[in-house]
Formats: sequence, structure tokens, C-alpha cells
Amino acid sequence: MTKEFIQSIKGTQDILPDQSQRWQALETTIRNTMDTYGYREIRTPTFERTELFARGVGQETDIVSKEMYSWTDQSGENLTLKPELTAPVVRSFIQNNLGGQSTINKLYYIDALFRRERPQKGRYRQFHQFGIESFGSEFPEMDAEVIALAMSVFNDIGLTNLTLKLNSIGSPECRSDFRNALRDFLKPHFNDLSETSQKRFENNPLRVLDTKAPYEIEILKDAPNISDSWTGEDKAHFEEVCSLLDAMRIQYTIESNLVRGLDYYTRTTFEITSTALGAQNAICGGGRYDGLVETLGGKPTPGIGFAAGMERILLALGDDDSSGNSTQVYIIGLGDEARPSVAKLAEDLRQNNIRTNFDPLRRSIKAQMREANKSGATIAVIIGDKELASGQAEIKDLKTGDQEPVKIKALVDHINSLTL
Ligand code: HAM
Repeated sequence: MTKEFIQSIKGTQDILPDQSQRWQALETTIRNTMDTYGYREIRTPTFERTELFARGVGQETDIVSKEMYSWTDQSGENLTLKPELTAPVVRSFIQNNLGGQSTINKLYYIDALFRRERPQKGRYRQFHQFGIESFGSEFPEMDAEVIALAMSVFNDIGLTNLTLKLNSIGSPECRSDFRNALRDFLKPHFNDLSETSQKRFENNPLRVLDTKAPYEIEILKDAPNISDSWTGEDKAHFEEVCSLLDAMRIQYTIESNLVRGLDYYTRTTFEITSTALGAQNAICGGGRYDGLVETLGGKPTPGIGFAAGMERILLALGDDDSSGNSTQVYIIGLGDEARPSVAKLAEDLRQNNIRTNFDPLRRSIKAQMREANKSGATIAVIIGDKELASGQAEIKDLKTGDQEPVKIKALVDHINSLTL
């Protein structure tokens, strides 16, 4: 039985070498796509003041009210491991006056986040997101670009069976109108609602629409629709987003109950789900937050972004048994005399970007040959006393078994000329 302190914390996981290749491939796709769309990377600290999230994400949200890892440090400061990145990026945007330097700021991130949720497949306490935050434009072309970018990353990495769900939760005026309409509708059903929904009814009635309980979904069938509360401008904005997506041939379904769980959203909200996942099927979520920069003390600046869960993306992609770039050349050294030549040849090949390995355990030729085959190398180079005396090493093609002598001095050029 392994001692407890040698067990990782519940809801956290190691990414072992067999898996890290898939992470790197995903990260490369993300970075290439970001580059193509003109987004630049921002990196923010792992922890922030607790107040940033309370004000930015909203005191009543699940994240802030029950999921944050918060503590008071030695000087009495209330700090929190970041549970999401929109508030930290907005904080940095304001603090560094990015808006003063450029009217449009298109930023992206790849980062680890922390939420004390109940762990299950696809839901962890430390997880990773990539995402973007685009500041400066309130116009629908920015909404369409943000959504197109998300879809482009998913396409490039081969994720299929995705559904893009789209909605607009309107401007603040629209939402206060809708909140009243929804409360009026729910009042007669109040006693039938779950405890969670009853609490939401008081604090944030829009979140009642988030329910997964079938009997509540049934009640909500006749609920008012947020589109009835849109202002003329909200409606025009949403219609333009839809027609731009149509022009880009990006398919979507309009989901009028898609309100999202964070308080900063205005107008466009969207989520991308995958049928390859179970209960935790949201790969990506985002939307507009035109009031957030101002709420946090900056100059009024519109913004829109999304974040996508990287563990969920890799789960949806399914298992892939590529376990990394395998060795190309394995050097087999025999006897004490050969050791310096083996080390030098390995270094020379590596300097030529050839993935090379040798046996650091001074084992028998049989054991080294077994390692060479296991390593996935294409060729083995054999250097022993006989080879040193003749100035020639043996090169063995590990697929065909063919073997030929090559001058030790000419080995690097020779191996360089092979297609490994
Ligand atoms: P979110 O919907 O809370 O939005 O998270 C976005 C994505 O992160 C989810 O769709 C999911 O894929 C992944 N995710 C969330 N929680 C977990 C978890 N516990 N374990 C694994 N994956 C998880 C936000 O975070 C907003 N900041 C997105 C945004 C950016 N909106 C505007 N800009």
C-alpha cells in the first residue's frame, strides 16, 4: 500500500511521458492557429487577490461561492488559485494599460486552473484551458472570428461530432427585464423547484435555466424566452453574428436557455459540446463581456473570448498509442575501449538532430541489442574492439537485419544521408 503522501491530490493528475506527446501536439496546433488569427500570448500569475474573482466572475456563481482554493497568507492578504482566466487577463489588461497602447488587443493563453469541484471523468480540480480574450470591438465580426478560431483549432486536431450552441443574453437592460419576467413565471412553481434552483431564483434567476433536472426542464418549457426581452440593438447584433457564421459555413444551433454560469456575460454566449464525452460534454464555453473591463475599474472596453478544456479535448480525441518520437539510432558499444567512441558518436549524431541513444548500463551485446529493438530505432551502430582496430563500425538495419561496415570517421555523414 502506497503511503498517502505519495498519492496525488484527488482531482489532480500527472501527465506522464507517454501522454505528453499528445499535449505537445495540441499545444502546437493551438499556437499555430493563434498565430494565423493574429492572437498573442499572455501569461498571468497562478494566484490573484480573491476579490478579483468575487468582483469579476460574481459572488453568486458556483465558482466563487464554492469552488475556489483560497487562503489568507502570512500578511493577511486573501488570495486564490485562479479558477478561470478572463478576470486575470482583464486585470492585466487594465494594469498594463494595453488598451492605451492599441485599440484592439487579441490575447491567448494556455494555462492550468483550479476549481474544487466533485471530480469525475472530464472534471478535475486542476485542469488546463486554452482560450482567448479579444478587447476593443463590440461588433459582430469579432464574435464570428472568436467562434471561427475555436472551431478551427478543433478541426485541425481532428475533433469531429461537435455541436456549437449559440445564444444572446442581451444587454444589461434586457437582462433585468428578462429576470423579472422569469421570476414572475417561476413564482407559482417555486415550491416544486430544487433547493439549488430556489436559491438561484433569489440570487440569479437566469441560472435556473441551467438546470439538468428533467422535472425542472419540463416546467421551463413554457418559460419566457430571453429573445423576447432583447432590445432592437441586441437583436440586430445577434442576427449579424448568425449571418456571419452562415457566410463562414459554420453550423450552429440556437439555444435560448444557454446563459452560462459566470456573471460577466453580455449578448453573445456560446458553448461547444462533443458527443464523444459523457456528462461533462462541454469542450468550450465563451461569450461577450462588454461591461467587465469597466466593472473592474478600467475604461469602458468591449470584450469577447472563450476557454476550452484541454483534458476534455484529449478525452474526446480518444486513445492514441503514439508514445513519443522514438529513437532513430541506437549505438551498441562493446568493451571499455569503445566507450569514449560511443559517447562521442552519440553526441555528434545528436548535434546533427538525430535522435540517438546508447546503453548507459554497460550491459552485454544481447541485452543492448534487445534495448535497440525496443527503442524503435531504425538502425543500430555496433562498435567493439574489432571495429576500433579496423576503424570501421557495423551498421545494422533493424528492420531488414542487413549489416554493413562503415568507417567510424564517416559515420555521421553516412547516417545523415540515410532516411531514418
Ligand atoms: P467555463 O465554461 O467555466 O468558462 O470553462 C470553459 C471550459 O473549461 C469548459 O467548457 C470545460 O471544457 C473546461 N472546464 C471547466 N471546468 C473544468 C474542470 N473542473 N475540469 C476539466 N475541464 C473543465 C470559463 O472559464 C470562461 N473564463 C471562458 C471565457 C473566456 N469566457 C470569455 N472568455
